[in-house]
Amino acid sequence: MCGIIGYVGKNNCTEYILDGLKHLQYRGYDSSGIAIFNSENKIKIVKKCGKINDLINCIDSSLPLKSFCGIGHTRWATHGQPSDTNAHPHEQNNVTLVHNGIIENYEELKKLLKNKGYKFKTQTDTEVLAAVIDYFYENSASDPIKAIKKAAETLNGSYAVGVMFKNIKNTIYATRKDSPLLIGVGDNEYFLASDITAFIKYTNKYIVLEQGEIAILKEDSVKIVNFNGDLILKNILTANWNISAAEKNGFPHFMLKEIFEQPEAIKNCINSRVTDCDVTLEIENINDEILKSFKKIYIVACGTAMHAGLIGKYVIEKLARIPVTVDIASEFRYKNPILKKDNLVIVISQSGETADSLASLQLAKKNNIFTLAIVNVVGSSIARLADSVIYTWAGPEISVASTKAFSVQMAALYTLALKLCKLKNTAKHNISNYCKALKQVPQVAERMLKLNNKILDIAKLFYKSKNMFFIGRGIDYYLALEGSLKLKELSYIHSEAYAAGDLKHGSIALIENNTPIVAIATQESLYAKTINNVKEALARGAKILLICNDEKNIDKDLTDIVIKIPKKLDIFAPFYAIIPMQLFAYNVANLKGCNVDEPRNLAKSVTVE
Ligand code: M6R
Repeated sequence: MCGIIGYVGKNNCTEYILDGLKHLQYRGYDSSGIAIFNSENKIKIVKKCGKINDLINCIDSSLPLKSFCGIGHTRWATHGQPSDTNAHPHEQNNVTLVHNGIIENYEELKKLLKNKGYKFKTQTDTEVLAAVIDYFYENSASDPIKAIKKAAETLNGSYAVGVMFKNIKNTIYATRKDSPLLIGVGDNEYFLASDITAFIKYTNKYIVLEQGEIAILKEDSVKIVNFNGDLILKNILTANWNISAAEKNGFPHFMLKEIFEQPEAIKNCINSRVTDCDVTLEIENINDEILKSFKKIYIVACGTAMHAGLIGKYVIEKLARIPVTVDIASEFRYKNPILKKDNLVIVISQSGETADSLASLQLAKKNNIFTLAIVNVVGSSIARLADSVIYTWAGPEISVASTKAFSVQMAALYTLALKLCKLKNTAKHNISNYCKALKQVPQVAERMLKLNNKILDIAKLFYKSKNMFFIGRGIDYYLALEGSLKLKELSYIHSEAYAAGDLKHGSIALIENNTPIVAIATQESLYAKTINNVKEALARGAKILLICNDEKNIDKDLTDIVIKIPKKLDIFAPFYAIIPMQLFAYNVANLKGCNVDEPRNLAKSVTVE
């Protein structure tokens, strides 16, 4: 996720900004940049793709040693590939700025601004944001507050932004919507940052900038005003965090932080693609006619991404009635798949670098099959090679165990399923219901996060187990696969997932007194069947953790260890049921003293076969 830093004060800002950028690296980035007022009061920009040290190497020769005001940025690419040009800061005439967030209506605004004579050098939404502010600045007699207010009224999406105007010397303006922004208050020096890590070395005093507020940072003062320019009195807070706690936003592990980021990540992924009653997804290079013409879809991926693919298969088949085959990438690439001209190959990958997934994509391309990538990392190998891409926009995932990537991969697949359903007219009367339910997911998912303490108590009942089984039917079976993978990769407890109805064909032999079973029963049409399987396991002594919806009354004889998810349209249950399973795996691993963020033998990005 992009990181913002700004400094105004009595010291050399370049040093402070570079130090701030180093502390923002943990957020994940592909490029960085800095803009400062030089001694002639001109704004100088240096930006570079790659590591902060690459930026530092350029700065040595091109920036003056001393400057007292500047902004810096670490970029996590969303719109436009990682490159020197697309890196921030961006400038348009009077305006130089850094931005964290996504401007959803940037294409529409770009067209309007081009008609007004603006030229664009990059593919970013941020350069459009700079032009929007500049346009209103020019049209408000150079009033920065009015320009920011007007821009805010024009923008859809999220932003935290630090702006310098070329005629307003040594001053930073800042505002935000949905993306965070803090003001660090030092001794006659002020900081602007996406999070406290960027300045905590220098001051632990800070102000939280709220939506609808503008901060004005000068060498000797900081002022917060509303969009009408009225002064707002703000509390100065004191942080008692150290750097490492701050990087994790107060969470003990990146994994837990990422689990909690899921509602926001899903929102980012679907917001510009689905409305409350319609699906507006547009996929570059695939027009509706092409999309409608595919007779079969292959989904290819590894690990958690493959499990998201299985859920996608269920949803696409149910809503759009197109047959879908899901393959593990390491199998697909060697199985000589029967690929036909009217097939679509979808490759799902968080990192976009997984070797087997990349090889599968290459195989499909070699066979002249249309390819679509669902990827989180912009500009990654898979994103570059595929014919078209749906980015999941979850922000960087640092923890090795994939959590928020899974949720956004599902969100992207549900959006695609709805689009196919609309084009093929396969759910004429229901499409708006589905869209509405998908839009509600982030808000409803928030409720699941509140269960963490309860799940910790449940984890205490299970963490000493040697084996554990996950069972479910239909879409719940696919969830069982993911729940089981999460548990084994984090806690090293041996765990398997079974289709509940298949237990009696062999695996039930493993069940003995106290064998733990996580049973997932979220689908009304299969509920009674799954409960029958639970009873079969109970009769052999199993200890059951049941996940079902909150309308079910569970008899104590069945189990008293129950996690309930909100009753919504059944097809959306995976978004809610996966959260307690992730929290369960996390808490079990933590109780066992495992290294949660970096489990043994695993790598975040598997770039070898
Ligand atoms: O980057 P990718 O999505 O292609 O990675 C795929 C798998 O390696 C990944 O999901 C892996 O299974 C995770 N460790 C699961 O938590």
